[in-house]
Amino acid sequence: MKKIISLFILAVLFCLPGNSQSAGLPRLGKDPVKKVIAAMTLEEKAALVVGTGMRMGGAPPSGAGAPGAPGAVAPQAAPAANAPTGPMIGQTQSLVAGAAGTTFKLERLGITPMVLADGPAGLRISPTRQNEKNTYYCTAFPVGTLLASTWDVDLVNKVGQSMGNEVLEYGADILLGPGMNIHRNPLCGRNFEYYSEDPFVTGKIAAAMVNGVESQGVGTSIKHFAANNSETNRNSVNTIVSERALREIYLEGFRIAVQEAQPWTVMSSYNLINGTYTSESADLLTSILRKDWDFKGFVMTDWGGGKDPVAQMNAGNDLLMPGNPAQIQTIIKAVQDGKLDVKILDRNIEKILNIMLQSPRFKGYKYSDKPDLKAHAEVTRQSATEGMVLLKNTNSSLPFTAAVKNIAAFGNTSYEIITGGTGSGDVNEAYSVSLTEGLKNVGYKVNDDLQSLYTNYIKLTKAGRPQGRGFMMASSPIEELPLNQDIINGMVTLSDAAIITIGRNSGEGRDRTNTKGDFQLSDSEQNLIKMVSTAFQAKGKKVVVILNVGGVVETASWRDVPDAILLAWQAGQETGNSIADILCGKVNPSGKIATTFPLSYDDVQSSKTFPGKELVTETTAPQGQTGGFGRGRPAVITYEDGIYVGYRYYETFNVKPAYEFGYGLSYTTFEYSNIKLSSAKFAGNITVTVDVKNSGKVAGKEVAELYLSAPAVKLDKPVIELKGFAKTRLLQPGESQTLTFLITGHNLASFDPSVSTWIAEAGKYDVKIGASSKDIRQNASFTLSKDLPVKKESVSLVPKEQINELKAGK
Ligand code: BGC
Repeated sequence: MKKIISLFILAVLFCLPGNSQSAGLPRLGKDPVKKVIAAMTLEEKAALVVGTGMRMGGAPPSGAGAPGAPGAVAPQAAPAANAPTGPMIGQTQSLVAGAAGTTFKLERLGITPMVLADGPAGLRISPTRQNEKNTYYCTAFPVGTLLASTWDVDLVNKVGQSMGNEVLEYGADILLGPGMNIHRNPLCGRNFEYYSEDPFVTGKIAAAMVNGVESQGVGTSIKHFAANNSETNRNSVNTIVSERALREIYLEGFRIAVQEAQPWTVMSSYNLINGTYTSESADLLTSILRKDWDFKGFVMTDWGGGKDPVAQMNAGNDLLMPGNPAQIQTIIKAVQDGKLDVKILDRNIEKILNIMLQSPRFKGYKYSDKPDLKAHAEVTRQSATEGMVLLKNTNSSLPFTAAVKNIAAFGNTSYEIITGGTGSGDVNEAYSVSLTEGLKNVGYKVNDDLQSLYTNYIKLTKAGRPQGRGFMMASSPIEELPLNQDIINGMVTLSDAAIITIGRNSGEGRDRTNTKGDFQLSDSEQNLIKMVSTAFQAKGKKVVVILNVGGVVETASWRDVPDAILLAWQAGQETGNSIADILCGKVNPSGKIATTFPLSYDDVQSSKTFPGKELVTETTAPQGQTGGFGRGRPAVITYEDGIYVGYRYYETFNVKPAYEFGYGLSYTTFEYSNIKLSSAKFAGNITVTVDVKNSGKVAGKEVAELYLSAPAVKLDKPVIELKGFAKTRLLQPGESQTLTFLITGHNLASFDPSVSTWIAEAGKYDVKIGASSKDIRQNASFTLSKDLPVKKESVSLVPKEQINELKAGK
């Protein structure tokens, strides 16, 4: 009887679709990956290294979408069963609606698809689905720049855990973030998605984020690898950069993240480096990423990045996203013609499958579609307060005293808070808390008449504007509501304090400009700050400017006017609550800027070369090179600033910034004392300790920064470089904490391209611990007796031309 039942079961199993053909075949997860690959046809192999495509809103199913344009049309000649049924804007509909892409499914070998979804500030999927009542909102967390300003790796890890949990519970497998390009220039349109001008902060914060997200059993994709520091002509710009600047500035953060977090994937960038697309560069993706750094995961292209699938396969760009049939055909033909060794395909597939084995979809995880959005809202509200930076606070204007009950909120952005940037870094959140809501939530009264005036004005002005800049494009701010003196005077009588919010937004595909209304304040914003401040201050009432921005703005021309300035960044869906928590003193600000605020844009060293030179003009452009959104014209950008990016430049060349790197005030004060080095001679590594004491009257946290000044013997050196940071716990008045930093050989070393080696030069090293890059509180030094070669690297990405690089030349 038993035998009959087993035979019956077997018979049924063989009759099931799929199983009849898979009998006897190896299966992923049961059999060795290599055996699974050996059972694939060439067509299947080619399909596995190419994503399943995506379609764009309003676009025909095939056609002239610019390759590499975000949301580009990627037609499926013979649509796979799971091909998107579009049209969608930059999104796929299959499996998880609104995700950015999916990988190929090969049922007969047990290969599941993986869902890849943006992005750095939270999971980006469609919040609603056709014919469904359920909603799929995600939490909009603070943007990257704010997270870096927390200087708190544990906190960032916690944010990552919440983000990763949403990835898991909404059925995605890999989050397309964090973004970690260097803030080379304040005008890069995507700086909000990135962390800092400094690679050490960037790497440490990115590693914390990757570890947090991946602790949930889902993957990340650190992006955009590498030297993608501007958006103008982003698909065609050739970044010309020295080996040293690459290693020390543009690759270093990625190296730290790879070695400290081993992300599941890396996303290559759109640009070329020294003449080769990053996705086609074996130097970058194999020699540096795999051989020098020991990266174990797989590499995917940015959406439509690069040109030549064969070169991409050879370089070690394992997966082409979002993928199109032409790429599959090219790969098949190249193997058939002997132009691509099938072993290369096998190698790349193996990397993809090794990650797939860990993915929740492969493991059959039953996702709930119900992450704990409430708990995550708390995480975003609290983490946002930790990265807001108090830039100015004359006579302790903040926190507001108990006498402040009625607040007049000026500035359009007070009523239209900006929670994050645009494009793939945007999140579809269920709600966002405006500033006025936040103020009310902590018990303030916000002047209703002023509120109606603004909300009506904004509504009318918006109605009169041309619509449809699309999800990629940030709208330029609308002119400030022109207020007459009578209205302002009326507000002075009715209110105890004034807030003025200045907002800026930006996103991928476009850089910002050094113009009024963008990097600079507009005339109407300047007027507003002047008029409101003069009237309120005349009656002894405080005025606070809130900067609700994703990147740096000019402050020098107006910062003397208000009493306080709070840099709130774009703080996610709870922005209004987080700001209010700081204004009322519930939270003491502890953020510090991880990117310099210059006095003027002309002081930025890279302003001389940003955003590059176009090589053809509209009239001389050959067919297909006429630019257009997302496509761009052939262009070149030469990093003549070399290693002198951000504070490395300002400090070495004595250029005074408006607010220096690492700067940020608190409602209390801190004293630093008792610096101790484990040794006065370097041998292997050195431990440094310092005591930080809350010497003020309220509880607070302090970020202590460790800078090193290395001897410049053969190699040029910036006067200081950040090599450590630590944040105290919440210290009560009078309480102290000892902070510990570890200095390794790598921290001492610079990259010497003549020998492709990180070398620490013999001599005296000064250790400087401070509250900012200028506010050094404790000094010590140690010596290194002879030159120390720390690590030899591959000879990679050598520029073909001479670069007229900036040198300190001491
Ligand atoms: C962006 C990536 C993003 C991808 C998928 C591209 O336009 O550059 O950062 O992950 O689209 O949406």
